[in-house]
Amino acid sequence: MTTPKGQQRVAKEETKGQVTSLTLLENIDNILEKDPAARSRLEVILCYPGFHAIMAHKVSNFLWRRGLTTPARCVSQAARVLTGIEIHPGATIGRRVFIDHGMGVVVGETTIIGDDVVIYQGVTLGAGAAARMGSASRGKKRHPTLGNGVVVGSGAEIQGDIVVGDNVRVASGSIVLKDVPPNSVVVGVPGRVIYRDGVKVTSESVPDIEAEAIKSLKRRLEKLEHMLAASPDLNKESFEVPSEDFSTGDLKDMDVVDDGTDPVDVFLHGAGI
Ligand SMILES: CC(C)(COP(=O)(O)OP(=O)(O)OC[C@H]1O[C@@H](n2cnc3c(N)ncnc32)[C@H](O)[C@@H]1OP(=O)(O)O)[C@@H](O)C(=O)NCCC(=O)NCCS
Repeated sequence: MTTPKGQQRVAKEETKGQVTSLTLLENIDNILEKDPAARSRLEVILCYPGFHAIMAHKVSNFLWRRGLTTPARCVSQAARVLTGIEIHPGATIGRRVFIDHGMGVVVGETTIIGDDVVIYQGVTLGAGAAARMGSASRGKKRHPTLGNGVVVGSGAEIQGDIVVGDNVRVASGSIVLKDVPPNSVVVGVPGRVIYRDGVKVTSESVPDIEAEAIKSLKRRLEKLEHMLAASPDLNKESFEVPSEDFSTGDLKDMDVVDDGTDPVDVFLHGAGI
């Protein structure tokens, strides 16, 4: 690991936009520390696409900040071809960020990533609803901000101008669309906080909103079928049911609620943090 004096030098030189041997060393040693599969500095230099992508981003970001946007995009796209990791040159990336495996990772233009973040393969740090606005959202912050020490599990999606607090862990496959408080574990689609400051904050098992919505629809369908079968005036040939056969009273037992907690509404309107 680099010494505090060395870290100061790294910070000073990084603000000048220079890729130095110290930043290289810091990133290599960070990977050696974080990944039990890594055996030597040479192996990291030769075989870690996450390392290559971060180094290429330092070059593309250097060009981007000097207004050389097209050369910056070219460097970024060349790195994408070589590593499978797409980092927009405009993204701000902190120190000791480790992209493990990396294939399929996408980091959008206005993303901010803090220090000591770990990102696994298939993660998207993308624009949320702003993506639909096209050029109207150019220059606006539309990608997430990740605090220090965040871990983003494989295949997770974090979308929109949201803040994921320090030391948050996002489970594989989660979709996070809203701010996440620091020191939390987020799980599911849409993402929900299940741990905060090491304490479980929900007694439920990990919610499966899709399954709940399907179960609710199945229950309602079964009740309707039951009511239709019990109706003496039902024209079973055509399945046409005279509307007068149903009064609101017949429906009151069904789990149709109008308070926004119906599982189908929760699923259709989104839920989460
Ligand atoms: C999400 C994560 C950060 C949480 O780590 P942790 O805090 O050490 O805790 P755990 O792994 O014990 O998981 C905490 C809870 O989240 C649940 N959980 C973890 N990952 C989950 C997922 N992808 N989907 C649903 N639930 C998940 C666990 O079942 C556990 O629930 P419980 O407390 O009710 O038993 C961790 O599971 C992780 O790093 N995942 C990503 C790993 C990854 O991407 N690996 C790819 C390597 S190639």
